[in-house]
Amino acid sequence: MALPTIRELLKSSGPKTGAVARGWVKTRRDSKMLSFAELNDGSCRESLQVVFSQENGNFLEVLPSLVTGAAVEIQGDLIASPAAGQKYELQARLVRVYGGCDPEKYPIQKKRASDEFLRTVAHLRPRTNKYAAMLRIRAELAYSVHKYFHDKGFFYVHTPIITASDGEGAGEMFTATTMDLSDLASLPRTDKGEIDFSKELLGKKTYLTVTGQLEGESLATALGKIYTFGPTFRAENSNTYRHASEFWMIEPEMAFYELEDDMELAEDFIKSITRSVLEKCPSDIELFAKFVEPALMDNLRNITENTFERLTYTDAVKLLEPVNERFDVKVSWGVDLASEHERFLVENYFKKPVILYNKPKEAAAFYMKLNDDGRTVRGMDVLVPRIGEVIGGSERENRLDVLEKKMAEAKIDPQTYWWYLDLRRYGSVPHSGFGLGFERMMMLITGISNIRDVTAFPRVPGYAEF
Ligand code: 4AD
Ligand code: MG
Repeated sequence: MALPTIRELLKSSGPKTGAVARGWVKTRRDSKMLSFAELNDGSCRESLQVVFSQENGNFLEVLPSLVTGAAVEIQGDLIASPAAGQKYELQARLVRVYGGCDPEKYPIQKKRASDEFLRTVAHLRPRTNKYAAMLRIRAELAYSVHKYFHDKGFFYVHTPIITASDGEGAGEMFTATTMDLSDLASLPRTDKGEIDFSKELLGKKTYLTVTGQLEGESLATALGKIYTFGPTFRAENSNTYRHASEFWMIEPEMAFYELEDDMELAEDFIKSITRSVLEKCPSDIELFAKFVEPALMDNLRNITENTFERLTYTDAVKLLEPVNERFDVKVSWGVDLASEHERFLVENYFKKPVILYNKPKEAAAFYMKLNDDGRTVRGMDVLVPRIGEVIGGSERENRLDVLEKKMAEAKIDPQTYWWYLDLRRYGSVPHSGFGLGFERMMMLITGISNIRDVTAFPRVPGYAEF
């Protein structure tokens, strides 16, 4: 039977006889005649204090099972709490233990454990205050993304997860195959002895998607404004605090938008979803400000209250070159900026988010629109404190001849992209879009410093447990 959650019980308009709460015991302490337990069901950060009087109900009988981690149901009366910091407590009458828990072996103890340890018990870490708060914020952030675009008239579209083309042209894809790679001799071969992917289940060699953008462009040049929100896979071997092999990306794509419109939308979007989570999850955010990142509220105000700096790549190089001694990779015009340079601009120089645009064409994806100077493209990155790049986007090359030339330069086979080129043949328009890394946005909002800790079950190089 569906019962009110603890979140709902704590919001009750008044005391209630005959209340029932279910959840997991966080802690229990005993005094002479009374015992107190903190019961949490995951619905909110706050636990419900349950008071057991020893002469009441079956209390003495169940006492040994009322331990940290046990799953229980408690029937009793919700009364105004005499204790500070909580409006109500539950006076227990009857206790039912669903599942006991061996306190000696239970990996989640009251004492705070390290993030590294908790990753080894990722199936149980959602029971900790911190990870439960992270997951509730994650759910709210996802909702606020949908609400933002829905309210602005964007259509939510679904792009394929298994694809035949490399949307970034960077060659960082996981192959998706039904072939039995443990038995190479069994693989179908062409006359030349190469693996014959035409015998694949889907009829060709396929991969897990690195972006929904190219299909998104097809849909935006029909529906006007669309967005995707889906899983994304990158086979790059980057073992860093901000790279995952599987992550979620939000990709809006807009017909008739130029780069300036794209940057404006990106800034408004980040500010808006940040405000909305701050408003919806004050208690969970407070946990992170208190225990994880002391500067969190200042950092978030920095996002919501400042106008993001617009900076061309060329101007960025002018700022960075004189302080090259600070960097491992020295900057000069043409060098692809790395996280150390991005963070210097954001954290030390401007002290606020920066939108870096017009980068050299060599450091950019093939689909970005070439500027009239012939050497930069209309691409942009939104850079934020602590994380660096949180959004990458661009105005797309909408001229067929220029796109074909750029693809040839990048040694990209136009045949695979025949349909993408068609979008430039039939009713081509200026259009733009960007991708927001959902986990990086989560790092920004919670202050969590490692991408492994903003998703329930991380997928990173060398790790696919759970
Ligand atoms: O800059 P990226 O590679 O851009 C694209 O994929 C474009 N197709 C987006 C578009 O224009 N529609 O990736 C976009 C964002 C990055 O800014 C970053 O936040 C995130 O996706 N991202 C990653 N997040 C976690 N782990 C990784 N390995 C990531 N790679 C990119
Ligand atoms: Mg990028």
